[in-house]
Amino acid sequence: MIFLKTEEEIEKIRLASDLVSRTLGEVARWVAPGVTTRRLDDVAREFILDNGGKPACLGYHGFPGTLCIEVNETVVHGFPSSYELREGDIIGTDCVVELNGYNGDSCFTFAVGEIDPKVRRLLEVTRHSLTVGVEAARAGKRVGDISNAVQTYCEKAGYNVVREMCGHGIGRSMHEDPEVPNYGRRGMGPILKPGMAICIEPMVNMGSRNIVIERDGWQCRTKDRKPSAHFEHTLVIREEGPEVLTTFRYIDEALEAASRSGLTIENPDKE
Ligand code: MF3
Ligand code: CO
Repeated sequence: MIFLKTEEEIEKIRLASDLVSRTLGEVARWVAPGVTTRRLDDVAREFILDNGGKPACLGYHGFPGTLCIEVNETVVHGFPSSYELREGDIIGTDCVVELNGYNGDSCFTFAVGEIDPKVRRLLEVTRHSLTVGVEAARAGKRVGDISNAVQTYCEKAGYNVVREMCGHGIGRSMHEDPEVPNYGRRGMGPILKPGMAICIEPMVNMGSRNIVIERDGWQCRTKDRKPSAHFEHTLVIREEGPEVLTTFRYIDEALEAASRSGLTIENPDKE
C-alpha cells in the first residue's frame, strides 16, 4: 500500500531528512585513516540525539548500529566495529533518522585518504547514478523508469547493480511501499504520483553483481570481494518534478574544508 503524503507530512520528512544530512556531514569530518567505524557510529548517534532525533536503524530488527558501515566489499548492513580505517579504503555510511514520527534516509560513500583511481571512478559513477535516478522520478512515470535509468547508466560505465537490495517508500516507517529496484524495465511498476516519498539508493559493484550475506543474517558483501559503492537520497514526487529532501551539501562542505586546511584529523582511538 503506497501512502501519498500531505504537505504536513512532507514537512516532517524534510526535517528528518535535513537532520540525517547534517549527521552525515558530522561523520564526514571524522573519516580518516586510523579512525574506527565505531567512532563514526558514536559521532552519528550523539549528533542525532543532541538534535532531538532517534537513530532509527539502532535496534531495528536487532541491528547494532546507528550507521550501516560499508567498508570496501561490504555492500550494505555492515556493523560498526573496532576496525580502523586505512588509507585507500572506501566507506559507505547509511543512516536513517526519525524525527517527530517521520523518517529521513541517506547514504554516502567516502574515500579514506588517497584511493585507487579505479575505485574513485566507481564512487563518481555511483553518486551520479543517484542523480540519474532522481531525474527519472517524475509524476506520471513509473518506478521502472527510475530503475532502468540507474541500471542503464551504471552498466554503460562497466559496473553491475545489486539486485537483492532496493530503494523504498518512506514516511512513518523507514521502509514503505513501493520497492524501488536499481534494475528493471521502463514503463513497469507502480505509477509515480505527487506526494509519494521514496528513497533511491544505487548499490553498485565494480565486479559481479552477486552478493553474500554473512551468517549473522545482516552483513552483506560482494561475492568476489571487489568494492561496492552506495549513495542514497530521500525525495518527494511533485507535479513539477522530484524534490530531493536530503542533501550532500554538508558532507561536501566538510570534505572541502578538510582538504583546504590540509590537516588530517587526529586519531582519537590511539593510545
Ligand atoms: N538505511 C537502510 C536503507 O537504506 C536500511 C537500514 S537497515 C537497518 O534502507 F536495519 F539498519 F536499519
Ligand atoms: Co534506504
